Formats: sequence, structure tokens, C-alpha cells
Amino acid sequence: MNQNPSSPILLFDSGFGGLTVLAALREHLPQAPVIYAADLAGIPYGEKTEAEVAARAAGLLGRLAERFHPRLICIACNTASTIALGMVRDVLETPIVGTVPAIKPAAAMTQTGTIGLLGTAATIRQAYVDNLEAEFANGKRLLRHAAPELVAAAETKLRGGTPDPAIFTRAAQGLLHKEGGDRIDTVVLACTHFPLVQQELAEAFGNKVRFIDGAQGIARRIAYLTQGQSFDRREDDFAIVTGDGQNNAALLGGLEPFGIGRILRI
Ligand code: DGL
Repeated sequence: MNQNPSSPILLFDSGFGGLTVLAALREHLPQAPVIYAADLAGIPYGEKTEAEVAARAAGLLGRLAERFHPRLICIACNTASTIALGMVRDVLETPIVGTVPAIKPAAAMTQTGTIGLLGTAATIRQAYVDNLEAEFANGKRLLRHAAPELVAAAETKLRGGTPDPAIFTRAAQGLLHKEGGDRIDTVVLACTHFPLVQQELAEAFGNKVRFIDGAQGIARRIAYLTQGQSFDRREDDFAIVTGDGQNNAALLGGLEPFGIGRILRI
């Protein structure tokens, strides 16, 4: 394992949803140098095939690992993790932490026994999610709904825009209008973008449900795996983005609160 004190932790997502994981990581490891990588040329992953997501994630992470020698990589994206975590672990030597839908804590929280899960279309159809449901939500009811519009809404909000409120209403109704959906008291935000718009979602759900996401659990796992390592941030943390056509100024305004002061394009 690379334990050079300036070796970064690399967080990866299709876009900026992984910032919700970064925010939790800052609480646990404020000194850790971080590189945040966003595959903006590939977003949204949730609308792609499994093969496309796996190829993009593995290819990009391979290039980034070679160039920046991270001590650990966090796939801060439920879609990429539920599809490609095993494969990326097989091809890279760097320790990899994935993002798993928080079904286990949701099952412990629910009083009614009915849990809602919002994710991307690709995430909610994964066997990975079926397995989590069988293992941790046995005897409970898990209702899944794909809400791809929330990804773009979160990206818009991060850049200072105001997403259409109808997007949140549609996401809430998608769950609540399912058979038995009126009993949902706990909602798993199974896409790292969604906590960025949690307030809007809470209003759309009529403030009647509790939300749970994986960010704190992932941050704790990273802290555990890097226990005893020293951290020395020698330069400002920065973001790497793929693709052109982004408005850097709007983006930087959204990134600065997360301690990212510069953007590099690859
Ligand atoms: N942030 C991502 C996730 O956790 C992916 C969103 C997307 O690209 O569709 O699923």
C-alpha cells in the first residue's frame, strides 16, 4: 500500500454526487489530501448499460491510479459500485471502498416495516441490491423507484441553479403511489447525488419519512482502512473532470464549500 503522506484519497463518481461522501470524509479525516474525479463526459451512469458503466469506471480509475498513486480509491457512486466494484478490485491493486445502498440501517430504523429506495435505473435492477434486501431486509418490505431526474437536479443545484420542484414531487409519488407505499417511513437514498437535494425531497414527501444514505458509513470505513497512516496535504485539493463544455466558474462556486479549489480536465 502506498503510504506516502501526500498520497491522496481518490473519490470517484459520474458527477458531483460523491461530494456528499467527501463532506462526511472531511469530518473523519480533515488532513487527508483528496482528489475528486467526476466523469462528466459519461454522466448519467444510471441510464447506461452494465457493460458501459463497468468499462468507463475501470478504464478511468486505471488511468487515474497510474497518474496520481492514490493510497485508496472510493467509488462514491452507487451505480458504479453495484455494477463494477468486484471487477475494479480485480484489476487494481489500490484498496477500493464502494458505496452500498444503506438497506441494512434502514431495516433497523423502520417502524412500519416498509422501506422506500430511490436510486438510478441501473442501481435498482442490480442483483447486488436483491442480495442486500435478502440479507438485511428479510421480513420487511422494500419498494424501489428509479428517479434519474434527481441526478440532473442535484447537478443543477450544485451549480447554483434551481431545479424544477415537479422533479421532487414525481420522485416522492413514484414511491408513495406504489402498492403499500403509504406505509413507507424510511427512504434509502441509494444514489450519492440524492442527499444534495434531500431538503427538496423531504418537502415533496410531506416531511413524513426519514432518509438514510451511506456517506457516514463509507467515511468510517475509509478512516478505518487508513488508520495509523500519516496525511500531509501539500497542495490544495482539486477536482478532475472528463469532457468539455462545463462552466468552470459555476462549478467552482459549488465545489469550494467542499474544500475543492481547482479543476483539472482530462
Ligand atoms: N451518483 C451516482 C450514483 O450514486 C450516479 C448518478 C448517475 O450518473 O446516473 O448512483
